Amino acid sequence: MDPTLESDLLDLPELLEAVRRSAVRVLAGLDERPVRADPHAPVEPPRPGRGSRHALAEFERRWAPGFSAGAGPRYLGFVTGGATPAAIAGDWLTTAFDQNVVNAADSRASALEAETVGMLGALFGLDGHHGAFVTGATASNLVGLAIAREWVGEQRGVDVAEQGVAALGSVPVLSGAPHSSIGKALSILGLGRDAIRRVPTLPAREAVDVAALADALDDLDGRPAVVVANAGTVNTVDFDDLRAIAALRERYPFWLHVDGAFGAFAALSPEHAHLVDGVGEADSFCVDLHKWLNVPYDSAVQFTRRRDLQVRVFRNDAAYLTAADADTSDYGHLVPESSRRLRALAAWFTLTAYGDTGHGEIVRRCVACARDLGDRVAATEGLRLLAPVRLNVVCFTLDGLPTLERVRAFADAIAATGETFLTPTVYDGIPALRAAFSNWRTTGADVARVHAAIVSAYRGLDRSPSADTGQDHPL
Ligand SMILES: Cc1ncc(COP(=O)(O)O)c(C=O)c1O
Repeated sequence: MDPTLESDLLDLPELLEAVRRSAVRVLAGLDERPVRADPHAPVEPPRPGRGSRHALAEFERRWAPGFSAGAGPRYLGFVTGGATPAAIAGDWLTTAFDQNVVNAADSRASALEAETVGMLGALFGLDGHHGAFVTGATASNLVGLAIAREWVGEQRGVDVAEQGVAALGSVPVLSGAPHSSIGKALSILGLGRDAIRRVPTLPAREAVDVAALADALDDLDGRPAVVVANAGTVNTVDFDDLRAIAALRERYPFWLHVDGAFGAFAALSPEHAHLVDGVGEADSFCVDLHKWLNVPYDSAVQFTRRRDLQVRVFRNDAAYLTAADADTSDYGHLVPESSRRLRALAAWFTLTAYGDTGHGEIVRRCVACARDLGDRVAATEGLRLLAPVRLNVVCFTLDGLPTLERVRAFADAIAATGETFLTPTVYDGIPALRAAFSNWRTTGADVARVHAAIVSAYRGLDRSPSADTGQDHPL
């Protein structure tokens, strides 16, 4: 054994203790850490081969200071959860056990994943769905649409997994306001981004107009299609009427894929659960866990009713692996990865530790924080809300018709306060900002600090007439 490796082995308990102390310092210091850190690290190359203590010291010196407080309570960019204490514990043990969850016969790890999937299915009101862990909502949408593609093949008498997508031809994919990951998935699947047919949404909404969807399906003259419905759009957290969409299957042949990346968590709040009514009707369903379940990256689940089609796409035939049958519980036959980590353990830990009560409280608190910020923004001169706060995202912009550059400058000025981080977006053609609440630590006191940072950044913006509103933005 390499002597440095051997010495690390002897030192392992102390080494992990040192890492634990380091992680504790990071977590205790989240409040002081700049929400968006300086990404420019010193460029001197590392001198390798000096053991893990040295690696830890080098990491702490060169890299850790440039890591953002993304796990903290005022990082409101994208839809970024943190990691609950139980989830961190589960994630550490995932690494310590280092199970390969490819084959159900190897250890109990696959059974733990199945149990976790069952807990999540119950949380979201799924019924008769199978599930598997993947790396994120993009991967979950990819797997769901791969199964959808196979289903369309089945309708047309084509075995896409064997014959290839060329034998299938084009597939219409209908959606009101699909997330960008849908286009990415269609590109990977060989169906192409152009397969998406945008269906009109309801006035001033991102929810699909179900009557327009029915018309679009009608125009297909019985051709099997895929409908991608949203349970929580990224800008304004709007929800399609899942029940009404599902009911259209009585008249038209289509596969219903529901993207509930973070909106699915509405199910945990009695006041909002109606928004995801009908989710159990989905043929495939995507939910992210590194967002609102607050497990560490990277973790999501893909649910489907048609495991047989899933196996057809993802089975991995090799003499050294167990054979795939239609109801296999070998995850290596169900997802793009073959060898895979037990990412279910962090979710299992947090669900076992806090249950639906604890996680429901996180959801309700995040929603209350979003409403509070929405009210404050609406009452702030120079700012305007672009949509009502439906769940956990506040979408707002500067008064008038701000340019994209100006909104980006505003976002930069907010980030420069070190207090919070919001992501710029474009909603309904209008450059805007999004503040997304999904961290278990966030409280009302954080909202006050976020609002103060927004106001201070706004006051510091160049207010000269040429920099101000009144010009058409270039969109
Ligand atoms: C609705 C929706 N779908 C899919 C995704 C993609 O998620 P991920 O970045 O985990 O792949 C997101 C990310 O914000 C999302 O909001």
